[in-house]
Amino acid sequence: MRDAAPQTIYLADYTPFGYVIDDVALTFTLDPHHTRVKSRIAFRPNPESTERRFFLHGEGLKLIGASIDGAPVTPELSDEGLTCEVPDAPFIWEAEVEIDPAGNTALEGLYMSNGMYCTQCEAEGFRKITYYPDRPDVMAVFSVTINGPHPVLLSNGNPVATQEHHAEWHDPWPKPSYLFALVAGDLIAHADSFTTRSGRDVALNLYVRPGDEHKCAFGMQALKASMRWDEHVYGREYDLDLFNIVAVDDFNMGAMENKGLNIFNSSAVLASPETATDANFERIEAIIAHEYFHNWTGNRITCRDWFQLCLKEGLTVYRDSQFTADMRSAPVKRISDVIDLRARQFAEDQGPLAHPVRPESFQEINNFYTATVYEKGAEVIGMLKRLVGDAAYYQALDLYFDRHDGDAATIEDWLKVFEDSTGRDLTQFKRWYSQAGTPRVKVTETWQDGSLTLHFAQHIPPSSATPDPQPQVIPVALGLVGPNGDEVLETRMLELTEAEQSFRFDDLGARPVASILRDFSAPVVLEHDLSDDERAHLLAHDSDPFNRWEQGRILARQSLLAMIRENADPDRAYLDGIHAVVSDESLDPAYRALMLGLPSQSDLATALHDAGDVPDPAAIHKVSEAMRDALAARFAEIAPRIYQACQIDAPYRPDADQAGRRSLGNAMLSLITRHHGPAKAQAQFDAADNMTQQLAALANLIRAEAGDAALAAFESQWQHDRLVMDKWFGLQVLEAKPDDAADVAEQLTRHADFNWKNPNRFRAVFGSLAAHHAGFHHVSGKGYRLLADWLIRLDPVNPQTTARMCAAFQTWARYDAARRNMIRAELDRILATPKLSRDTTEMLTRIRG
Ligand code: PHE
Ligand code: ZN
Repeated sequence: MRDAAPQTIYLADYTPFGYVIDDVALTFTLDPHHTRVKSRIAFRPNPESTERRFFLHGEGLKLIGASIDGAPVTPELSDEGLTCEVPDAPFIWEAEVEIDPAGNTALEGLYMSNGMYCTQCEAEGFRKITYYPDRPDVMAVFSVTINGPHPVLLSNGNPVATQEHHAEWHDPWPKPSYLFALVAGDLIAHADSFTTRSGRDVALNLYVRPGDEHKCAFGMQALKASMRWDEHVYGREYDLDLFNIVAVDDFNMGAMENKGLNIFNSSAVLASPETATDANFERIEAIIAHEYFHNWTGNRITCRDWFQLCLKEGLTVYRDSQFTADMRSAPVKRISDVIDLRARQFAEDQGPLAHPVRPESFQEINNFYTATVYEKGAEVIGMLKRLVGDAAYYQALDLYFDRHDGDAATIEDWLKVFEDSTGRDLTQFKRWYSQAGTPRVKVTETWQDGSLTLHFAQHIPPSSATPDPQPQVIPVALGLVGPNGDEVLETRMLELTEAEQSFRFDDLGARPVASILRDFSAPVVLEHDLSDDERAHLLAHDSDPFNRWEQGRILARQSLLAMIRENADPDRAYLDGIHAVVSDESLDPAYRALMLGLPSQSDLATALHDAGDVPDPAAIHKVSEAMRDALAARFAEIAPRIYQACQIDAPYRPDADQAGRRSLGNAMLSLITRHHGPAKAQAQFDAADNMTQQLAALANLIRAEAGDAALAAFESQWQHDRLVMDKWFGLQVLEAKPDDAADVAEQLTRHADFNWKNPNRFRAVFGSLAAHHAGFHHVSGKGYRLLADWLIRLDPVNPQTTARMCAAFQTWARYDAARRNMIRAELDRILATPKLSRDTTEMLTRIRG
């Protein structure tokens, strides 16, 4: 929190630090409000820099004393750190500071959660622990001593000595400060081991609070599967004797890849069949993999500065999505990722928060852990792989690991590796990193004498981040489907590089239907004017599972838009086409369940806005309900049979096979509940022995306005379990009627267990409110007001989580004048709050435009 005008940091201003660190020794003496941290750092002038100002970051530290080569010094202190006269030769810096972990509610630096100590240093949290050059290009070997009255005292690397209340750790791998971690508490280890392919034995531990021991087995299996996968697919082995994971309840994000000591939000690692859903298990598997994969893509090769964040995050998201595709169903994973990308990243890229995958300036780096950096960053890597081919991709990755191991690298380094190993010029491709905005690709066709010509035009809408966008390299996977449903041209990759380009296919006989952008080969908006019949043809026959799903989705969207604009009835062809695919027992149940999903109400609002209409959230909600009713009627006969066929008569397993069947079964349950009433949902609720079945049943009961007893029963069954209670809080908001959503959320904030300082609990209520399109955008403005009230309250406690939640307002410009005015008034009210954090100020200023 600061009153001074916020400072903007620019990529173009990068200069290396003036000093190199050889090693760092830290000694912690833990105490809730008075922790002492001693540091001893060996500095020497950096031969690659002429900068000789000695500045160390430090925030909220009480300096007890400092010395250089043993002689006390009096540094000059500011809100951001300190400067000091230093010798023009190697020297030893020593300092002692006092910090207040129990008073640290921002959950950055060293803080306490349920009596345990833990740290979060990415991006700039280490400066809240001690004075240090807190930037990722300063890498050092750390030795850490911890004194504290706790049975478990952990830090990075390998343990070198442990006695009661005293532990010493040494991490042999040089690392930036953001990868530092410390944990202390009364914890229980779920232990296992892994032998790497070169025969190194690695001890694995998952540390949890007493009472959570039964929720560890799955995370541990996922860790071992990830270790094996990275060896097989990328040839990457683990590099320490020990790998520790710790679960904490209070955490701003999902998890953190600290070297050898990953710290996880408990929601991202703890699971048992009774308490976690199939979706939770899949997410946990992916996050465990993600953090583990960072050991190479992030830790061994790190980022030169925070502008390069996508270097580690885009690549690591890409790797974890490959892993999930291998462990489960590749098409289902791809479709789920596209749904998520469109919902979160496209919204960002098409609104006031648009920024390039590699931003060029920021005020608060915490605000750039975005869907654009992460998910679009991963899509960019997927495109690179499509363009160069699989073999060349893995060759380039080998060169990347060889050449840059131990480096703090840049996007230029990354692309150079591909240029050197493939001979390709990636100058134009690099625009994916520097230009904001979602490209729109328009396709028109001409058909003549057995030749089909596809004309492509690409257009990137200008934004304040990229006012003058230039054409990008867009890989478009294409196939042609013949009139009888056969594949007449197998998938091939077209490369768009110009604003306009055509491709001709000869000797075709009858006119085929073009299946364009198979597997969603590029993160673009495709505009391809197919007739409804042609779409239905692809829905029935396309060999590409993504495009099959996509055509169903487009038919649904077109029908929903016609229902809004023309009061049309739900489209018969859509209902019949979906009915045919969902009834097809040769298809994967998980895929059939995805086929039944409708475009989200927020997606429909975007579609209306793009077409020049003003979306009315209440009308969008109404037609979405009407379409679900129509699906329920169309499936009235078959739904009970499919539901029955999906019931599993075997012990619960969270694998793709069982999860797919439950997912289809529960899709049927919601159709059945709509059409035949809540009896089956009640029966499933009463009989459920796992959370997937219990929660799905509960959602249906609430939706059918028959959920009061079940909600009460659920609460008394689970009130001791925080993670399950987060679901209880969230579901009531998500499933509320639009008129009630804000009131339900408001009621829940009065509940005794609404611990609003816990980010999971805060998000359970307010993340759900923001996700409830018709509820949040209620014409009364009560959704906006309630969220603003609570953001104002949370900001002084936890700026990072507050700022992230502000994104709920990012789509304000597409609504009517009354809603726009109400939202702007709330943004201004928050902005007028005295001492508003830098995080929230930056977000709201950008959103407001
Ligand atoms: N680096 C973490 C990840 O992607 C995310 C994170 C960022 C966590 C900042 C905490 C704080 O896995
Ligand atoms: Zn990550």
